Amino acid sequence: MTIGVGLIGCGGMGSWHAGNLAAQPGLAVVAVADAVPAAAASLASSLGARVQDGLELIGSDDVDAVLIASSDETHARFAVAAIEVGKPCLCEKPLGTTIEQARAVLDAEVAAGRRLVRVGFMRELDPAHAQVASALAGLGPITKVRCVHRNVDDEHRSVEALFAQSLVHDIHTIRWLTGAEFERVTVHVVSRGDGFHDLLLVGELTSGGLGTIEFEDHGFAYEVQVEVTAEGGMASTLPHPRVITRAGAIEALSIGTDWFARFEEAYRVEIEDWARCLGDGTFGGPTVWDGFVAQMVARAGELAMESDAVVAVELPARPSLYGDAR
Ligand SMILES: NC(=O)c1ccc[n+]([C@@H]2O[C@H](COP(=O)([O-])OP(=O)(O)OC[C@H]3O[C@@H](n4cnc5c(N)ncnc54)[C@H](O)[C@@H]3O)[C@@H](O)[C@H]2O)c1
Repeated sequence: MTIGVGLIGCGGMGSWHAGNLAAQPGLAVVAVADAVPAAAASLASSLGARVQDGLELIGSDDVDAVLIASSDETHARFAVAAIEVGKPCLCEKPLGTTIEQARAVLDAEVAAGRRLVRVGFMRELDPAHAQVASALAGLGPITKVRCVHRNVDDEHRSVEALFAQSLVHDIHTIRWLTGAEFERVTVHVVSRGDGFHDLLLVGELTSGGLGTIEFEDHGFAYEVQVEVTAEGGMASTLPHPRVITRAGAIEALSIGTDWFARFEEAYRVEIEDWARCLGDGTFGGPTVWDGFVAQMVARAGELAMESDAVVAVELPARPSLYGDAR
């Protein structure tokens, strides 16, 4: 039996996910939606799918699962609609653009009593990150996770957008690798006239360890690295495979500026894993709780930055739906 997928958002990520969905046996993208009709029509014709409004698509009988890759502020509304009709959903991060939106998705899923929404924190499926996670087995308790995230972004995003769109990935990496929550955060920044340049977030974790994020938004290259220190040793990602060029009497090692090229494989594996879960009728990957908590920590980070003080992360009790481990 073919599983019909409805895709909301036909921009960069939606189009890339569409290609990966089309490569999965047993899955077919049957409908797409986009606020820009031409974007939807173009992707629909390449997939042999129809164009629909997002909410109508979610309610359609032949749509068994929904992938949300539309703009950030639309995620929560579509995720809640998918939960209300009991359809599994892969929702790009962030769950919402406000804590209230993320909380609405959490409340809807807890009320439904089923985990349906997987959040697109795909670093868990990035081969380099997955190898670090495996390497930590046997090294004992983790004392520190150090994330380095350099962007070449020149969009001059707001601080809220930087936290919601970029730093949530690093916050999730720390929670995923340690299994601990953030208790308190401090943030130090080097500012420029048009925003901040360098940011250091230091998180004290419930495990007693530290999680740090070194983030740069106008950097010289795109880079994401993680280094984990445990009582019995360390594990860290290697630099992403790249090419040395030799020309004009110079040997150069390119780092690259493209976030997409860095995580292309992770997005592919993410869709493959989601397709496997849909086929098995199981749930896997980052949960709504993960998405909600990442936003709570991001918000604490913003407050810490504004107030130049240590800010406590005050989480509600973890709903039993999300178990102990994740
Ligand atoms: N996981 C990751 O690493 C990662 C990387 C990049 C982007 N993202 C996320 O993926 C999402 C899409 O990002 P993108 O880079 O493709 O952006 P994009 O701007 O290229 O595409 C977004 C699309 O959503 C459409 N849209 C907006 N409102 C809509 C609505 N109400 N109904 C249907 N479509 C609507 C827009 O017209 C646009 O075509 C964002 O939420 C972004 O934060 C995640």
